[in-house]
Amino acid sequence: MESKVILETRGITKDFPGVRALDSVTFQLRKGEVLGLVGENGAGKSTLMKIFSGAYPAPTYEGEIFVEGKRCNFLGPKDSQKAGVAIIYQELNLIPELTVAENIFLAREPAFGKTGIIDRKQLFKKTKDLLDLLTIPIPPQEQIKNLSIGKQQMVEIAKALSYQARILILDEPTSALTEQEVESLFKMINSLRSRGVSMIYISHKLDEIFKITDRVTVIRDGKTVASKPTSEMSRQELVSLMVGRNIEDMYPKQAARISDVILEVKDLFVDHPFLVGEKVVKEVSFKVRRGEILGVSGLMGSGRSELVTSIFGAFPADCAGEIYVEGKRVEIGSPYEAINHGLGLVTEDRKLFGLILGMQVGENITLSCLERVSWRQIIKRKRENEVISRYIDTLKIKTHSPETIVNTLSGGNQQKVVIAKWLAINPKVLLLDEPTRGVDVAAKVEIYQLMNKLAGEGIGIVMVSSDLPEVVSMSDRILVMHEGRMVKELQRNEATQEKIMFYATGGR
Ligand SMILES: Nc1ncnc2c1ncn2[C@@H]1O[C@H](COP(=O)(O)OP(=O)(O)OP(=O)(O)O)[C@@H](O)[C@H]1O
Ligand SMILES: [Mg+2]
Repeated sequence: MESKVILETRGITKDFPGVRALDSVTFQLRKGEVLGLVGENGAGKSTLMKIFSGAYPAPTYEGEIFVEGKRCNFLGPKDSQKAGVAIIYQELNLIPELTVAENIFLAREPAFGKTGIIDRKQLFKKTKDLLDLLTIPIPPQEQIKNLSIGKQQMVEIAKALSYQARILILDEPTSALTEQEVESLFKMINSLRSRGVSMIYISHKLDEIFKITDRVTVIRDGKTVASKPTSEMSRQELVSLMVGRNIEDMYPKQAARISDVILEVKDLFVDHPFLVGEKVVKEVSFKVRRGEILGVSGLMGSGRSELVTSIFGAFPADCAGEIYVEGKRVEIGSPYEAINHGLGLVTEDRKLFGLILGMQVGENITLSCLERVSWRQIIKRKRENEVISRYIDTLKIKTHSPETIVNTLSGGNQQKVVIAKWLAINPKVLLLDEPTRGVDVAAKVEIYQLMNKLAGEGIGIVMVSSDLPEVVSMSDRILVMHEGRMVKELQRNEATQEKIMFYATGGR
């Protein structure tokens, strides 16, 4: 028996200047189901969710929304909250200094009568009851800043549910979670489902879609193109529905000519950011050759990101070790110096290191190579525009124009702008930290082809990634990190996902 529809839209259309983000979308969510929502970068997924959450209020869009058959007009987040809709964004919105309980019941803490004085005992008890109900093992008195990202996300979900949410939207919820945290999240989703909560689950990780969802809806160019039970959908079919064509080879690795060493790192140590005397990177040494793609794998927190960001000069005061570029010892005291020595870094956290969100797409691309497009300190517009349009084309960045503000691009397209920015400096070595996170399947293949091309031109590539199939398929050689140390080197022909996990989890 089909369960009843809880949330439904008719003809939702949403325009941004120059872009039709949603084009008469028809969408249905049923009671108690987990619906996977998939589509390419820029397809319109987040925009639709923002309409459901009241972030884009009526009448900034056309069309109708119904919750349990009743027409709703969400004029703001409060309205959609009242209708039982809650959304968990990728960037969490908790206050780090406050406790779990204070965050959940912020601005509606239980008080003694009308005194306004918070009844802390009652606050902690209410929170404990809520967390127990959801089987979340976190003490209500704990400060948010002491919790891992995964736990913080659970608190956000608890908070959402404390408002009696019946519809929970999760927009790329696992992108900053460890494997274990993903497991706990899935357990929680399953238990919510059994209690009748309906969920919309957005992800570019198709494994997750097949594992956790009951039904999938595909949107392409702002339109719903398919909707059916996950069990009746094959991977191939899903991918071709998303991108409008077949993708034969997800990992098009080409062998490049691997020649002399271009980057060498010797005995690198990096201090822990808070714990005095602790190190996050311990005695790491390795070499990268021209034309080589060196994969770096390890669990979250193993020091992978700190390794590449410290090579790039992000925290010079906290590092010890030697770095050689083309055989010459270099001192890298800042990212600026790293760029001058021919290094580029595509970071995991594009908001923090990668982009200036309030600036234009084009400006961001040429940010690191202004010298190359200038003559006597004056930027040559024509040359700059050539560089910009070349990268927008090569990477197929979906932007209305080079003048579009980066902030308004979809997540995956922002990632492509970061990559473009570093390619524009013509680096000798490219350090990539989770280069395809949040990027759709088709764009991933484009990034891989680009890596092949760069390797073919003699660039050395270091790719940190927690996407195991990606590491195994695209690397010439793989280094595995565990607790700050390089514990294993695997050659392409011997590497498997299982072997990497074995060493990454401390196996010997
Ligand atoms: N605030 C905005 N101003 C202008 N254009 C926007 C804005 N927000 C989104 N867009 C555009 O609307 C389209 C849909 O974007 P949306 O963020 O919904 O995509 P998405 O499916 O969530 O993609 P991704 O998988 O990359 O997160 C894109 O072309 C995007 O550039
Ligand atoms: Mg999105």
